[in-house]
Amino acid sequence: MIGRLNHVAIAVPDLEAASAQYANTLGAKVNAPQDEPDHGVTVVFIELPNTKIELLYPLGDDSPIKGFLEKNPAGGIHHICYEVDDIIAARDKLKESGARVLGTGEPKIGAHGKPVLFLHPKDFNGTLVELEQV
Ligand code: CO
Repeated sequence: MIGRLNHVAIAVPDLEAASAQYANTLGAKVNAPQDEPDHGVTVVFIELPNTKIELLYPLGDDSPIKGFLEKNPAGGIHHICYEVDDIIAARDKLKESGARVLGTGEPKIGAHGKPVLFLHPKDFNGTLVELEQV
């Protein structure tokens, strides 16, 4: 059911410093920061030949990244995103198997303008999983 690894998201305490590190030290293609008010994050996409890295920084007071950075002040891997062909079919199959879908259970439009859903980390070996319909 899942396809390619779309991205790995890393929460960072300093978006500018992390972006500069990927651009200059690691020599990656780093895009401009993008505010995502619906998700409470500012995102910087880094394009790698086979996938993307998504740097996440809190946007607004009730950002889901805020608590994560309080627990992980140096930053850390926040979620991984797998591609699916049909997000509703994937969601229904996962729910049948007992996996918990976060939020309302309805897909939101993600940072790439495509429908996304998040799955409870306790159901996936401690990893927050995002599904993106491509
Ligand atoms: Co993501």
